[in-house]
Amino acid sequence: MKFKKQLALLVLLLVCAGRTKADVLIALGMAVTALGSAAVPEIYCYFRECCNEKWIFFDGGLQADIEGQLFGQHIASSIILNAVTGFMSNSIPKKPLVLSLHGLTGTGKTFASKLIAKSLFRKGMDSGHVHMFSSELHFPHKSQTELYKSQLQHWIRGNVTNCAHSMFIFDEMDKMHPGLIDGIKPFLDYHDKLDGVSYRRAIFIFLSNAGGDILTQTALDFWKAGKKREEIKLKDVETALSLSVFNNKDNGFWHTGLIEKGLVDFFVPFLPLEHSHVVQCVMAEMRAKGRTPDSSIAYEVAGEMSFFPKDERIFSVTGCKAIASRLNFF
Ligand SMILES: *[C@@H]1O[C@H](CO)[C@@H](O)[C@H](O)[C@H]1NC(C)=O
Repeated sequence: MKFKKQLALLVLLLVCAGRTKADVLIALGMAVTALGSAAVPEIYCYFRECCNEKWIFFDGGLQADIEGQLFGQHIASSIILNAVTGFMSNSIPKKPLVLSLHGLTGTGKTFASKLIAKSLFRKGMDSGHVHMFSSELHFPHKSQTELYKSQLQHWIRGNVTNCAHSMFIFDEMDKMHPGLIDGIKPFLDYHDKLDGVSYRRAIFIFLSNAGGDILTQTALDFWKAGKKREEIKLKDVETALSLSVFNNKDNGFWHTGLIEKGLVDFFVPFLPLEHSHVVQCVMAEMRAKGRTPDSSIAYEVAGEMSFFPKDERIFSVTGCKAIASRLNFF
């Protein structure tokens, strides 16, 4: 049977290579006849993304990707790697994985989410199972919060019903209306099932700038004390970070008890990037574009960026954001 299937698939592929639409249809017909209708999903899933292990699997490439592409984030790197690896190797997780990524613009939060998506989904961010929401884009009007909330719940339920391994990324979480965050809360908790749907294999990632100042202050303190950035430990920023997120009345987290209820599994700090990291980003971008990495150009690009604080000028204001477009000028 297995052989028959493979043979049919091969025939199909060969004929597809023959190009005309009619050929493909005939081949499809032949294949279906040969295999019986049970094989239709298999053929379908050969070409188009499905929620199965052919399209979704933890490929073990995350470590290399993080080490080679996420610069200057030793704490975030190890937390993310451990969290995702642990979650994916657990055959029956008790709750969905919930990561809250914190840091200033351009420090790599979105980029890290992309690496996670890439490590699980063959199509990475283009996967139909990865959903990205931005509060200003998707939920712009305060007055519509109730509508957004039911819509969002509907989407999460629908997508997880279709595929348990769905991944949801919420950008600008600190700008999100508390009512909306409240709407997500039930999905993050330790429920076996909610209305017959289990959310335990889903991944939720929250991105926000909240706590960015605290992280900068810590990095600056270390720098001033002549200590290496790599000496900053999670415990040096963890308490301050959760307190700042918790106590900031302007951002949605404060109201919602996401933290109180322990629904966030990991707070992931992204430190402000230094000149050398920006250089690394430019080099990586050149490599990605198929150019030969040229360090003198990289230094030039990095040199044109703004750094803060005013006197010390250590940290990049925009981090590695928009490097690609800057590079186009060189
Ligand atoms: C899945 O989420 C998307 C938004 O990313 C939404 O447009 C779509 O309708 C959802 N699918 C289901 C089945 O609810």
